[in-house]
Amino acid sequence: MNRRDVIAAAAMLAGSAMAPMAFAQALAGPSKRVKALIGEMTLAEKLGQMTQIPGGRQRALNSRLDAAMLDRVRRGEMGSFLHVAGAEPLHALQRVAVTESRLKIPLLFAMDVIHGYRTTLPVPIALASSWDLKAAERAARIAAEEARAAGLHWTFAPMVDIARDARWGRVVEGAGEDPYLGSRMAVARVKGFEPDGTARRVGILSCAKHFVGYGAAAGGRDYDSADISDRTLHEVYMPPFYAAMQAGTGSFMASFNDIGGVPMTAHRDLIGGMLRGRWGYQGIMVSDWNAIRELIKHGIADTPAMAASLALRAGVDMDMASDTYAGYLAAAAADQPELLPMIDQAVERILAAKERLGLFDDPYAFGDAAQEKSPLDRRTARDLAQRSIVLLRNEGGVLPLKAGAKLALIGALADDASTTLGSWRARGLPENAVTLRTALPSAEFADGKDIAKAVAAAKRADIVLLAIGEDYDLSGEARSRSDIGLPGNQPALVEAIKATGKPIVAVLMNGRPMALEAALKGIPAVLETWFLGIESGPAIADILTGKVSPGGKLPMGMPRVTGQMPMTYAHQATGRPANPDFAIDSARYRDVDIGPLFPFGHGLSYSRFEYGAIELSAQTLGAAGTRITIPVTNSGAVEADEVVQLYIRIPRAIPARAVKELRGFVRLTLAPGQTKRVTFTLTNAQVAAWVEGAWTVPGGRVELMVGSSSDDIRARAALNIIERPRPGSTVAPAASIETKVEIA
Ligand code: BGC
Repeated sequence: MNRRDVIAAAAMLAGSAMAPMAFAQALAGPSKRVKALIGEMTLAEKLGQMTQIPGGRQRALNSRLDAAMLDRVRRGEMGSFLHVAGAEPLHALQRVAVTESRLKIPLLFAMDVIHGYRTTLPVPIALASSWDLKAAERAARIAAEEARAAGLHWTFAPMVDIARDARWGRVVEGAGEDPYLGSRMAVARVKGFEPDGTARRVGILSCAKHFVGYGAAAGGRDYDSADISDRTLHEVYMPPFYAAMQAGTGSFMASFNDIGGVPMTAHRDLIGGMLRGRWGYQGIMVSDWNAIRELIKHGIADTPAMAASLALRAGVDMDMASDTYAGYLAAAAADQPELLPMIDQAVERILAAKERLGLFDDPYAFGDAAQEKSPLDRRTARDLAQRSIVLLRNEGGVLPLKAGAKLALIGALADDASTTLGSWRARGLPENAVTLRTALPSAEFADGKDIAKAVAAAKRADIVLLAIGEDYDLSGEARSRSDIGLPGNQPALVEAIKATGKPIVAVLMNGRPMALEAALKGIPAVLETWFLGIESGPAIADILTGKVSPGGKLPMGMPRVTGQMPMTYAHQATGRPANPDFAIDSARYRDVDIGPLFPFGHGLSYSRFEYGAIELSAQTLGAAGTRITIPVTNSGAVEADEVVQLYIRIPRAIPARAVKELRGFVRLTLAPGQTKRVTFTLTNAQVAAWVEGAWTVPGGRVELMVGSSSDDIRARAALNIIERPRPGSTVAPAASIETKVEIA
């Protein structure tokens, strides 16, 4: 490798103005212990700390912990394992590190604990549908407690990538399309995983991933390039990361994708410059799986040593699974001595994390064989699952089901325990999951593979529950699809059941918003249930029977057809806004209606809600904030939840702003006849836009819209912006800033 090449490549990747600062910036101060250790470490030991190796496979944990691996631990050439678990095996492994290695540095054990460890809870896109931050926090807390009992220190969650293209399989792991909702969910989950901010006594380290732009993959193809404007990057994709950082997440993961040709694993501007420099983030930056070595395939490095050097220079501290740091950084550093202080800094961050976790004082503090066998938390699983369900359509009051109605339950997904668990399942087991079929024993079940049999069952029933969607293996990593309609024989099954003339309730089970306009045509009731975890069946039954009123809202719009992807409610107005009149040339497709089938924020209830008029504490908006109050009344007959949503629009600004941007929400429970007054406090920093590299508050008017969905605005008002701070006086992305909500 040619040293000058690497420097030139690194300089180029660093791009413009803000690059060089990261490494100049010292950590807030490593402890004496960490400093002393670094002083004693050989280069090989340092690179060992920067190395994370799979100790098993996702579904065969610990399976690679052989004698050679243990020897490496003894030599101090290993800092962290992933895909390992279990109090006893991990204590045994830790014992090797802390008793048989020279410096006795404890290992860090990591795993993808995404939506539960043993108690499998709703997948993240489902939990985001709850718009319930306490629920999201609780879910992370339970996952953390169970994972901690199994000896784990670190989870690779939350995934906070914004996704506006449902072809991308990983939408199942995120909170959907909106940066404000995504930021709040990110904070809730980080707080849940790391309740005391250090994971020393409770919880485990969390990881905000994948930094950044991963959800913007071209064509929705996983791992593909993101080609996004600087403005979209900062206004849409960055906010949840900033929010997660503010909430104290212990680590970040660099994403696989490149942005405009610069792979994130080597992105000095965004990791070194923005995250470390401007934002001041001090936690660990881990690469994604094998991503350092993949810099060669990206075409920015031609040797592993060059790849390692570029990743280190960007600010990646730990190499997940590629063994490139351990294998090649020493040679690179011999050639480029300026890498040595960067190595020390990476080791410092990793040891600081181990210290914060308390591992130097008690390396066995995580892992409790008795607690590891504690009963599953079914009550919480059921509650969270209920909260995650979204009622999309309910014509003629088909739901809730009338008592005594004869039910047919049709569709293989209704009996697919494995699918309820979603794509990441940690130690979740299908045999612990209760399916809809099990939860509704009186319904006549037909899996739908034999359409004639299903039709016969439908004909014998008063009402048909039709479980349709995608099984768990059609969404998740590397599971992008070019057609997000119903797979297999389901379209034919749906049409055959419709032809019976029986009233149908479509129960959608899926890891992404699907394109179902044609399939759902003529079906009076539609319930979105995603993948709800072990209490999936009972929770869906609770909603179907009316024991609980549905209160979820879509965190991502549902398209009519796949060809509408990508899409968002927060689009630009354009000079020729979409118009239903074909005589007017406008920004729309000719062959499909305008907009999504079900919009962002949409979700019905078994009750009705009336919104009063907006009251303002002032007609102006400044740094101190303006209080925006609205009364909401349950005017129906049952107790129910409503998610009150606040949107803004700046009608005139350069650059032009989106037609709507979410800036506040709250999920309320209201008894019949009850009124609650919701007050949002908005500040001027929350209406800022990213203009030429700085957050800039526009002048003029802000329109306020409060409603029940992005497409169901019930009250409007406007404010005049009076204070405009100097551009760049804050680094916080506008959508990352929390809107205070009070309920009276
Ligand atoms: C995924 C990450 C995950 C890692 C470890 C990668 O392929 O992109 O999200 O944390 O594997 O399992």
